[in-house]
Amino acid sequence: MSLSMTYEGVEKVFDPEGRNPVRALNSVSFTIEPGELFCLLGPSGCGKTTLLRCTAGLESITGGKIYYGERDVTTIPPFRRNIGMVFQSFALYPHMSVYENVAYGMRVRKVPEETIRTKVTEIMDLVGLPDVLKRNPSPTALSGGQKQRVAVARALVYDPEILLLDEPLANLDAKLRRRMRAEIRRIQKVTGITTIFVTHDQEEAMAIGDRLAVLRDGNVEQLGSSGELYHEPQNAFVANFIGKMNFFHGNVASAAGANRESPVRIGNELEIRPHSERIKLEGPLSPGQDVLVGARPENLSITNVSSAAGEAGGSGGGIVGRVNVIQNLGQITRYEVVVDDAYAIDALEVDMYAPVDGVTEGDEVAVQVNGEKALLFAPETVADTVAEEEEVS
Ligand SMILES: Nc1ncnc2c1ncn2[C@@H]1O[C@H](COP(=O)(O)OP(=O)(O)OP(=O)(O)O)[C@@H](O)[C@H]1O
Ligand SMILES: [Mg+2]
Repeated sequence: MSLSMTYEGVEKVFDPEGRNPVRALNSVSFTIEPGELFCLLGPSGCGKTTLLRCTAGLESITGGKIYYGERDVTTIPPFRRNIGMVFQSFALYPHMSVYENVAYGMRVRKVPEETIRTKVTEIMDLVGLPDVLKRNPSPTALSGGQKQRVAVARALVYDPEILLLDEPLANLDAKLRRRMRAEIRRIQKVTGITTIFVTHDQEEAMAIGDRLAVLRDGNVEQLGSSGELYHEPQNAFVANFIGKMNFFHGNVASAAGANRESPVRIGNELEIRPHSERIKLEGPLSPGQDVLVGARPENLSITNVSSAAGEAGGSGGGIVGRVNVIQNLGQITRYEVVVDDAYAIDALEVDMYAPVDGVTEGDEVAVQVNGEKALLFAPETVADTVAEEEEVS
């Protein structure tokens, strides 16, 4: 029963004939599977809301096609698209009771009173608010989480074929946000409605989505499961956006073989050999070429410099840095290590499964990289990546 949804070369230019046309979507093409909970993720201004509004028909597109299942809806007006939408601001009507808020869409559609009553009761049960419905107050008398549920109920009540959620949890505090995202996933799986969930919070997207797409400047940078995006990011932007990635300045040490594997140096201290599948640069690698080495916190480790010096030859060396902050997070201990910026773009984040003996804040440590797990990216993406990250936070 659920519908797939397909974008085919979708383009959106605002004010195309004007003096300052804004290209908000650039040849967006992908398919969302029937019943899928799909997340759209990306920094502010990347085109998330625009894509949702185009999906709902609230904006017309300037190129390409949009399909619900097999049906081309590109020129179909929004009221003929059977869409449920939750806006970031909830947009509940304060002068109406909760019941009337949820019933509103059906009233407009001239649904019989009896059916409205049954549907509202059913949907308020589904979103976990049967008691609120009995009291039936104005939405102004509800908590943030309750308002959120009413907004979801209102979008679901007339059995939409597609559900669009634009940063629905943005107004909630951190704890409620986590609970509501699990709740939205539960409701979505019960109803099986093909859903797009927009957020700029990568943790939220990874937690809730069956698959996600990362958008930047109106382009889909990468699309996949959260595992794929985390473990196989195709460029430094995605790597930086999904989870924490440490970036080092690397240099190809010698000519690569047929499989492109070649040692890469970080300063004079470390030599690593990334797996060919983890090299995200085009073409062959040549000696002396600058690259960007990416490594997740769990793929770095630290050793105590004073004890390493005692061992023969310093055992593997590493980049020397200073521990800035140690966070004991229970399962792991996270070390923030500051190294010379000739080595890395930023302070390093290193996750260890056990605290390292004798290392306290302010101490010098040597940082090692698990070369097998490292990723190689083109260096020119660095400036963009870091700049956009700052914009987000
Ligand atoms: N009505 C409009 N007229 C002109 N430009 C617009 C209009 N709506 C959006 N834009 C521009 O299109 C681009 C994408 O905007 P959009 O609202 O889709 O971003 P977003 O990813 O939803 O951002 P945020 O995370 O801040 O909500 C931005 O550059 C924005 O300024
Ligand atoms: Mg938006």
